[in-house]
Amino acid sequence: MKLVFTMILGMAIAFAAASPAWASPADGKKTFEGQKCNACHYTDGPAREKSIADQLAKKGPELWYAGSKFQRPWLEGWLAKPAPIRALAYNSLTEKNKGDHPKLAGADAKNVADFLMRLTTNEVKAGKIKPKKSLKGRQVFTKKMPCTGCHRSAGRKGKVSGGISGPTLVGASKRLNPDWIFAYLKNPTHFKPFKPMPTFADILKAKDIKNVATYVATLK
Ligand code: HEC
Ligand code: HEC
Repeated sequence: MKLVFTMILGMAIAFAAASPAWASPADGKKTFEGQKCNACHYTDGPAREKSIADQLAKKGPELWYAGSKFQRPWLEGWLAKPAPIRALAYNSLTEKNKGDHPKLAGADAKNVADFLMRLTTNEVKAGKIKPKKSLKGRQVFTKKMPCTGCHRSAGRKGKVSGGISGPTLVGASKRLNPDWIFAYLKNPTHFKPFKPMPTFADILKAKDIKNVATYVATLK
């Protein structure tokens, strides 16, 4: 009887030790709250349930759909070593622009990434966009529409150019979930009701929205 008990106890300890995967999102949530990340970021959605004043009260982008938006390796890496994405926002172009967003060390970055990757929205449907250097998509991005007027990106020879009023799209292929890009371009107000990204779904054909999302998803 005693032996059986010892065996069960031993198995339970081994199981708990081998399962940090399900233990860490809870730790990540604790770190997120402990470090006051929620002073600047919403982790509850959807956005339409917030008033304009609520939206403007937070300095950082909402994270309630982070798991639908980001790629896991990028997120963990960025939390440990943040770099400016929106040149004109928090990381202003002035001397302050050194990527001085709060940093998370080691296990904290992993746990917070685990926590954030569980925050998803049904608005993003999986398997819609396969990243491809779509010629039509590139035309929409660089010529037909003013995307490059607000977004930086690297051209075919790697030269970075473009406007800075929107987030940089340099590295979008590593940072953003292709299906999120498509869902966002189709219906940006689901994600950000009061933000200045124009709604192209009224101007572009559905096919072109898909093409440009396919192209943006390849940006290095
Ligand atoms: C003082 C406000 C503030 C605090 C505190 C803060 N952030 Fe941020 N966060 C920002 C701003 C502003 C940005 C946008 C930076 C940029 O685009 O260059 C940002 C960007 C991010 C992003 C990328 C979001 C996106 O859509 O591009 C993540 C992820 C993030 N923060 C997580 C965290 C975590 C985790 C913490 C706590 C350790 C935290 N933040 C604390 C203001 C804050
Ligand atoms: C008038 C300026 C402007 C134009 C033109 C514009 N955008 Fe944006 N875009 C923005 C802003 C501002 C945001 C960020 C909103 C926020 O997060 O606060 C954004 C966000 C985005 C994002 C999400 C990036 C992220 O990390 O959150 C993508 C993808 C994007 N735009 C693609 C496009 C494409 C494709 C076009 C052309 C069809 C385009 N944009 C045209 C201003 C613009």
